[in-house]
Amino acid sequence: MRLPQGLKNECRPRVPLRELTTFRIGGPAEAFAVISGEEELRRILAYCRGQAIRVRVIGAGSNILAADDGVRGMVIKLSSSYFNRITITGNRVVAGAGASLPALIRKCAAAGLSGVEFLAGIPGTVGGATAMNCGVGGEGSRRSIGDLVEHVKVMGYNGTLSLVDKRGAGFGYRGSAVSSGVIIAVSLCLKKSTPGKVASRLREWILARRGQEYRYPSAGCVFKNPPGGLAAGKLIDDCGLKGARAGGAVVSEKHANFIVNTGAARFSDVRKLMRLVQRRVKLRYGIGLEPEIRIWK
Ligand code: EPU
Repeated sequence: MRLPQGLKNECRPRVPLRELTTFRIGGPAEAFAVISGEEELRRILAYCRGQAIRVRVIGAGSNILAADDGVRGMVIKLSSSYFNRITITGNRVVAGAGASLPALIRKCAAAGLSGVEFLAGIPGTVGGATAMNCGVGGEGSRRSIGDLVEHVKVMGYNGTLSLVDKRGAGFGYRGSAVSSGVIIAVSLCLKKSTPGKVASRLREWILARRGQEYRYPSAGCVFKNPPGGLAAGKLIDDCGLKGARAGGAVVSEKHANFIVNTGAARFSDVRKLMRLVQRRVKLRYGIGLEPEIRIWK
C-alpha cells in the first residue's frame, strides 16, 4: 500500500495490533493512522476509497481479537484535542468519539450529572462504546450507552456527515446501525444531580465489578448473553470450564465469560478455546453462544 501523505500525524506501516488492543494479541495492521480532525478524516477516507483500501476504526481496542497475521488495509484512530473533547451544557453532554469513558465519567461526576456511572471500569472510548452500544446487566435490567443518546454525528465512508437521532442510530444488544460509518461525536442527555451523589453511585458500580477479571489482559466478556435472561458466564462456569486452557489463553477463574491472555496467547489459542466453550455449552444446554468481541482477521 502507498501510504497517504500530509496528515498531521504520520501514517505508519505495520503497526502491531497487540499494541493497540487490551487483549495484547494480534499481528500488524498494514497501515495505522491517528486522525486529528474531520477534514483529515474525510481526506483519508477518500484516499482509501480511491485505492480500494479497507478502513477499520479502532478506539481503545478493548473489544477486539486480532489475527496473528494482522489485518490488511488501514486502521484509523480518532484522537486529538478535537476528537477527545467533552462539552457540558446544562444536562447535555457532547463527547467526541476519541474521548475515553473514564474521562467522560469524571467530567460528568464533577458537573453533578448522573447517568453514565454504570460505564465505570470499562476501558473504552465514547466512539467504540457507541458503535457497540456498550452496557451492563442482563435481559430486563440492561443499561446501555444508547439509552442516553440524543444524537450521533457520523461520517459515512463516502465522506458525508450526518446527525442521526437515537432511533436512527439503531441501538440493539451490543450493536448499532451507526457503526456502519465513522462515529465523530455523541450527544447524551443526563440527569441533574450533585457531585457527591454521583461519586457514591460510581463507587457502587466499581464495587459491583469486583467479580470481573482485571489481572490479565482480556477483551472483557467474550460471548453475548443468550436470550431468555441467561448469563453466558454462568453457563460456561456450570460446564466446569473455568481454568480451561489453549496455549496462553485461559478461561478466567474469576468470571467464566472472560478469556485471559496469560502472557503469550495467540489468536489461534483464543479461537480454539472459544470453539471448545461453544461446543460444551451447546452439548449441555443446546444453546449456541455468539461472540460479543469483534474478530479482526
Ligand atoms: N456467573 C457465574 N459464574 C461466572 C460468571 C458469572 O455463575 O463465572 C453468574 C453471576 O453470579 C451472575 C450471572 O452469572 O449471577 C451474571 O454475571 P455478571 O453479573 O457478571 O454479568 P454478565 O451478564 O456476565 C454483563 C455484561 C458485562 C458487564 C456485566 C455487568 C454481557 C455479555 N456482559 O455480564 O459486560 O460488565 O454484565 O453488569 O452482556 C463486556 O461487555 O465485555 C462485559 C464484561
